[in-house]
Amino acid sequence: MTDTFTLNNGVEIPVVGFGTWQTPDGDVAQKSVEAAIAAGYRHIDTAAMYGNEETVGAGIHASGIKRDELFVTTKLNNNAHSFDLSQQAIDTSLTKLGLDYVDLYLIHWPNPVSARDSYPDSLADTWRGMEAIYKAGKARAIGISNFRQAHLDVITATGSVMPAVNQIFLNPSDLQPEVTAMNDKNKILNEAYSPLGTGKLLSDARLATVAGHYGKSVAQVLLRWSLQHGFLPLAKSVHEDRIRQNTELFDFSISAEDMKTLDGLRGVAGLATNPDTTTW
Ligand code: A2P
Repeated sequence: MTDTFTLNNGVEIPVVGFGTWQTPDGDVAQKSVEAAIAAGYRHIDTAAMYGNEETVGAGIHASGIKRDELFVTTKLNNNAHSFDLSQQAIDTSLTKLGLDYVDLYLIHWPNPVSARDSYPDSLADTWRGMEAIYKAGKARAIGISNFRQAHLDVITATGSVMPAVNQIFLNPSDLQPEVTAMNDKNKILNEAYSPLGTGKLLSDARLATVAGHYGKSVAQVLLRWSLQHGFLPLAKSVHEDRIRQNTELFDFSISAEDMKTLDGLRGVAGLATNPDTTTW
């Protein structure tokens, strides 16, 4: 869990993150973050939109971990798309988390409904805000989430910092080949959210067969699949045993043949990329 990828600005990022999307605010968020850090996670992913920054922050502080041993990501909410609003939003997130800086700050969605009238000007303005946050040292790296080529083009046309990360829906049901190729070409790390297909992939019989080859759970195979593709999976759970299980990914390797089987599962479980990203 201490292995790292190196971002395009030289910052090291632990190769597996602890996801907190759909983790309820309150005791559940605090305790699961504490359990994750105790289990060895050193990378915690939250977002203003998740509504749990305060209790995720409480879990971080209760863990007793030294700040510089932890990598923390949060994200700019859809209602904060502009230069000025982004400056307020990072300060609000830092206050809620109880931190002086985050390691990574992402634009959560490129095209929030609230900003569609003025897109792409508002997106370019928002990225200017992200660059100011980076230059002020409030985020050690900045990036994007749910971006496709058209969105990236907007910010690279006027920006001076290339995003370090693009966090996208990524699992064997949807490999998003165009988006991952775009990211690779620009040295943008692919972060995989919903690596277990929001849990919907866990009951697939073909995945159970592959997992049986290694004496591992389907969840572990899916997370390992991400790593072998060079993706950074964000594993979410609120159960201590699963949180621990999801760290045990480094004592086996999926064969080329089984990787091919997993890659061929496209479209399983009725999962598809969130259509909101394809609107523009
Ligand atoms: P829970 O939080 O109750 O443990 P994704 O990461 O694709 O969004 O999937 C998250 C879902 O998968 C959650 O419902 C989570 O449930 C469940 N989950 C996470 N890890 C495991 C695991 N090791 N075994 C079974 N279910 C898991």
